[in-house]
Amino acid sequence: MARSKSSNQWLREHFDDQFVKKSQESGYRARSAYKLEEIAEKFQIFDRVSAVVDLGAAPGGWCQVVQAKSPETEYIVGLDLLPIEPIQGVHLIEGDFTSDDVYVDLLALLGARKIDLVLSDMAPNLSGMSAIDQPRCMLLAEMALEFCQQALQPGGAHVVKLFQGEGFDQHIKALRQSFNKVVIYKPKSSRPRSKEVFAVALGFR
Ligand SMILES: C[S@@+](CC[C@H](N)C(=O)[O-])C[C@H]1O[C@@H](n2cnc3c(N)ncnc32)[C@H](O)[C@@H]1O
Repeated sequence: MARSKSSNQWLREHFDDQFVKKSQESGYRARSAYKLEEIAEKFQIFDRVSAVVDLGAAPGGWCQVVQAKSPETEYIVGLDLLPIEPIQGVHLIEGDFTSDDVYVDLLALLGARKIDLVLSDMAPNLSGMSAIDQPRCMLLAEMALEFCQQALQPGGAHVVKLFQGEGFDQHIKALRQSFNKVVIYKPKSSRPRSKEVFAVALGFR
């Protein structure tokens, strides 16, 4: 079957993309690694961080960034629906974060340990229909915030991918109720035509 015009365009963009080239050279598993690098540099989110949970971690690019840029971090958990090739020193959970069983497994793995930084780059498979995609994205972000409320240390930080649309403003409001400072940020490495942005929430109360 011939490729559609849009998939040809995607392939062209992908292979011309400087961040794809950089990630291939540096050994990062995904170009999305550069989004976290930019966020970390701008907001110093890795300062004095010893435990990190990375939600929606496959194929593992953000976990690699934490290891590379935050050598003080001694405990990293990566969770995803999809299998992740092992990364030495990273605890991996394969499962759906929205399922009770997986959530319980995650809490059990953490035990009494409190987390300094909760990352969420989770995104559902997009159907292209915003009436379906937007509520799914918001649900993931809301559940990540609930997890922060259970697992974050006071003073901890949270980075969450959001898509502008219905529920976005309410979510920012909810973040502001739990954190001292919340900034909406679009890294340069995030494709301009993508509606994604990241909320960087600092100083968990
Ligand atoms: C953009 S990718 C993450 C890329 C990752 N940050 C990296 O640098 O390698 C989004 C991920 O969210 C995951 N995801 C979506 N819904 C999820 C859910 N309910 N539970 C766990 N992971 C989920 C997808 O499987 C996908 O791997």
